[in-house]
Amino acid sequence: MKRYILSLDNIDEVAKDVASRFQNGVVILRGDLASGKTTLVKAIVAHLGIEEDVTSPTFSLQHAYADRVFHYDIYNHGLEHFMALGMLEELEREGLHFIEWGDDALVSLLREACINVITVDIKKISDEKREYSVCIY
Ligand SMILES: Nc1ncnc2c1ncn2[C@@H]1O[C@H](COP(=O)(O)OP(=O)(O)O)[C@@H](O)[C@H]1O
Ligand SMILES: [Mg+2]
Repeated sequence: MKRYILSLDNIDEVAKDVASRFQNGVVILRGDLASGKTTLVKAIVAHLGIEEDVTSPTFSLQHAYADRVFHYDIYNHGLEHFMALGMLEELEREGLHFIEWGDDALVSLLREACINVITVDIKKISDEKREYSVCIY
């Protein structure tokens, strides 16, 4: 497990770490509302040189950036709904898949399906700083 405490100015440090160690699989982002999950996806997409706008996929099932980064938010839909729609197959597609609000049940499910998974837990330390705990299984 790797830990970072970073402000927006140096968020690239954790973006670089995730992007360099992990190119294929699912990144589960956990943390309260407004902890910085979408912002981290934005930083990683920018780090990869993809010039597309990253927004929260709150009301859609998936956002895709440059056809190799995929972004989901399961808070509104729920895990069962996602799986019923065939998400597991989608997650096997080559590329980076970011899932906001994934939980331990999803981590187990992905590992059972032999899909690479890492988790990033984000905690608000102050208005200007967040703590990122990166765990590769
Ligand atoms: N490392 C950071 N340091 C300071 N502020 C941050 C950091 N990461 C995100 N934020 C701020 O936190 C707020 C919520 O971020 P957002 O990514 O929308 O959260 P979430 O997707 O978890 O709900 C935004 O105003 C964003 O600029
Ligand atoms: Mg978000």
